Amino acid sequence: MPKPLHLIVACAENRVIGRDGQLPWHIPEDTQHFHAATAGQIVVLGRVCFETWPRVALDGRRPIVITRNTLLAGDVVRMASSLDQALAIAASLPGEIMICGGERIYAETLALAETTGRAVILHLTVIHAEVAGDRFMPEWRHLAWRETSRRESADEKFRYTFLTLER
Ligand SMILES: NC(=O)c1ccc[n+]([C@@H]2O[C@H](COP(=O)([O-])OP(=O)(O)OC[C@H]3O[C@@H](n4cnc5c(N)ncnc54)[C@H](OP(=O)(O)O)[C@@H]3O)[C@@H](O)[C@H]2O)c1
Repeated sequence: MPKPLHLIVACAENRVIGRDGQLPWHIPEDTQHFHAATAGQIVVLGRVCFETWPRVALDGRRPIVITRNTLLAGDVVRMASSLDQALAIAASLPGEIMICGGERIYAETLALAETTGRAVILHLTVIHAEVAGDRFMPEWRHLAWRETSRRESADEKFRYTFLTLER
């Protein structure tokens, strides 16, 4: 059995995840949640996300960056030219496979899981606001999910819900 694919994402009610190459919000509790969930695991991420997270390899993370320019590879950071190649590399490494975006990588992962029936665990922080942005989480709500955890929280700017959904 292949390992399940964990998608981890924070998204607004209107599915916005990013703006101008950055997160459109600063929510320390969600940043901590993201760092804790990915520590010690394989993290699969697009080249833009990688460039905004220079310390991705800290805390025992094993990064696999998806890019057409695989020459960027270093000692710790592995490069892959497609999601399929990233998952093939991930299969040979210890740890859970955490898919960390961006937009196209989330979409390709959900599509792959749909076509292959591979298990997906979605670690979703829903930010209860409509937020302006230019990157989006693909629609997930029409799919049948089993909710395995839910926690409400808030800071001075946003209310948000930490959800775990599986299919
Ligand atoms: N809210 C969240 O949880 C969350 C999570 C992740 C990202 N974000 C936000 O989303 C934005 C960054 O994501 P993004 O979607 O713009 O970019 P991205 O996925 O991080 O990077 C895009 C790049 O990745 C490579 N790539 C992606 N898919 C590929 C494929 N199938 N095959 C080959 N290469 C591929 C290409 O790199 P090359 O150009 O090098 O070939 C492409 O230009 C930021 O605003 C960030 O803050 C938010």
